[in-house]
Amino acid sequence: MRPYVYITRKLPDAVIKTLKQKFTVNMWDHEDISVPKDVLLAEAKKADALLTMLTDAVDESVLSAGERLKVIANMAVGFDNVDIEAARRRGIAVCNTPDVLTASTADLTFALLMATARRMEEAARFVKEGKWNSWSPFLLAGQDVHHKTIGIVGMGKIGEAVAKRAGGFDMNILYHNRSQKPEVEHKLGAVYATFDELVSKADFIVCLTPLTPETKNMFTIDVFREMKKTAVFINVSRGPVVNEQDLYEALTTGEIAAAGLDVFEKEPIGREHPLLTLNNVIALPHIGSSTIETRTAMMTLCVENIESILTGKPPKTLVNKEWQPV
Ligand code: GLV
Ligand code: GLV
Repeated sequence: MRPYVYITRKLPDAVIKTLKQKFTVNMWDHEDISVPKDVLLAEAKKADALLTMLTDAVDESVLSAGERLKVIANMAVGFDNVDIEAARRRGIAVCNTPDVLTASTADLTFALLMATARRMEEAARFVKEGKWNSWSPFLLAGQDVHHKTIGIVGMGKIGEAVAKRAGGFDMNILYHNRSQKPEVEHKLGAVYATFDELVSKADFIVCLTPLTPETKNMFTIDVFREMKKTAVFINVSRGPVVNEQDLYEALTTGEIAAAGLDVFEKEPIGREHPLLTLNNVIALPHIGSSTIETRTAMMTLCVENIESILTGKPPKTLVNKEWQPV
């Protein structure tokens, strides 16, 4: 029997055709609706491989249903949606998509920082709504980015790529990370700071840390109060790293100046979300890596990892490094 691969979202035929040559492949047939849990459980039961999205909770129930399951290829660099420990216990390999999305995600992060600092969304709306009556001295005046201090929380590959972009804007670069990164300090002139030091000194606080039990609820009102009143907060990691009620309070009481958010505690957010009522918030629908080139590269990497594992070869990007082919 050919191995069975289930893909939890509709992906282009061109990307999955190599899988179809070797394996039986089925796909959830929607681009913009995530697979219901009962379907995922039923498919996991039959599958040798699952190609999953960050919207799928690949938890104990899915992994234990997957009696034949050998690999989860998650189409994201983050893997907080996968129970890694449960996969490890069952000898299931978990793969993610680092590296291929680094530059695109750093571009989006910097674009969101610039857009928030320079009030681009408000300004663009102002023109489209026909409100532009005259040039005026402080019309939609924002804040400078160049020569300011950026504080990067989570100096992984994306953090490093953001630091590189910040260097091009003559910014001072602070970073906080679990481990210090001497090579990044040397190469990019980034300076290590404690978390408290970073949040109090930075003009732009950029969150890129993965979601873990340690980083959950890391940004609370106490942290926002430590920031400058002019601080701009940018989050392109995962929503639950931030306490959203506290962020709302910080933005409405003037503790900080503005926020640019690509991720939220519970996605998707609806129009009624309190943060969307604020002019000093730019909200994006979790599109950090979303360019045609990069999303295609992420899909392709998932496909390659599945092919490797189902044919007994080591995958390119393994999350649970202790995994061994059986
Ligand atoms: C997106 O958020 C990712 O983790 O790739
Ligand atoms: C940055 O924090 C990354 O995930 O590479």
